[in-house]
Amino acid sequence: EKQGFKHFMLKEIYEQPGVVRACLEAYFDGDWTAADAAIDKPPTHLGLPPDLFANLQQIEIVACGTSWHAGLVGKYLLEQLAGVTTTVHYASECRYAPPPIAPNTLIIGVTQSGETADTLAALEMEKKRRSGFDQNPELLPRLLGITNRPESSLGNLVASIIDTHAGIEIGVAATKTFVAQVMAFYALAIDLTYRRQAKSPEQLEQMLVGLRQLPAHMELVLESQERYIEELAHDFAETQDFIFLGRGINFPIALEGALKLKEISYIHAEGYPAGEMKHGPIALLDAKVPVVTIAMPGSVFEKVLSNAQEARARDARLIGVTPMDEQDAADTFDTLIPVPHIDEMLSPILTVIPLQLLAYHIAARRGLDVDQPRNLAKSVTVE
Ligand code: M6R
Repeated sequence: EKQGFKHFMLKEIYEQPGVVRACLEAYFDGDWTAADAAIDKPPTHLGLPPDLFANLQQIEIVACGTSWHAGLVGKYLLEQLAGVTTTVHYASECRYAPPPIAPNTLIIGVTQSGETADTLAALEMEKKRRSGFDQNPELLPRLLGITNRPESSLGNLVASIIDTHAGIEIGVAATKTFVAQVMAFYALAIDLTYRRQAKSPEQLEQMLVGLRQLPAHMELVLESQERYIEELAHDFAETQDFIFLGRGINFPIALEGALKLKEISYIHAEGYPAGEMKHGPIALLDAKVPVVTIAMPGSVFEKVLSNAQEARARDARLIGVTPMDEQDAADTFDTLIPVPHIDEMLSPILTVIPLQLLAYHIAARRGLDVDQPRNLAKSVTVE
């Protein structure tokens, strides 16, 4: 069943390019171009009812763990592309301190299993407290689920679903389901951007071209980096703390890299938005704390590099997930994990892979039960 892989997690990491292909096929019009906008042919086919989006004013996302990180990437896309104000809640917090009821709000529950108790409870609560507003239909619930299991309890709770097409995931650490959730957010954000005419058709076409190139880029990262990261993992046999930094759309990826490492290797790790380091966490740094920084060319590239340089001044070992041919990055980092050049907006799908592999190889090298980490279950069906 593991098809020659030592663990399901590694197998599932390798399945990711195929998952992205499946999502592209399921969500997007394969040969859409800007010219199609003139005949009002949309770039996506999510099959969602138009009422979900009528006069949309804001989006609330509820999720836990890795799905919450996918929600943060989603927020970035929904705000920066579609221009819709979006808030991401931990389901366990939202349950007991829900935001004020606002009109024309789309509520999105993200859960790969569709069985996470906190996420279901938060959605149920929204459904309940918003029903009975027949006098003011703007307040009625509009619920959308993003899940890998449409047949789950989530599927029964919400009327509209985006199916993430990742196939069953066995490793407790979510990998391919995360990538699929992020793909669902690309599709949703592009769908909304098109409906709201928030970007030009040419800009959307460019994004679609970039999205279609992702699987090949992902394969390249896997082929070219896995061995190297396996070697690199040897350097961290004794390491007790890690810091992961990113900014903008790669900040959630820093959080995800830290969560993967904590979850399967039991090493203390924190993810921060790189610009926040100087407000306290930088005091943690010394030669014993490696800092993994995601630095992709784009709106915050120079800023991230200068944040990394501040860490260097504290003797931290700097590891950069960054394109190979960026001289400033090469000068900044002690160790490079190269990824292909890609539009920053699409980069999370690539930058998460080295972080998954790093967590995997550090844990595997420590001889830990990667697929079944201690104290954890694949889905958390109790509060
Ligand atoms: O099934 P869900 O997506 O609702 O699960 C949410 C979290 O429990 C889950 O993502 C957890 O954080 C993973 N084990 C992370 O790898």
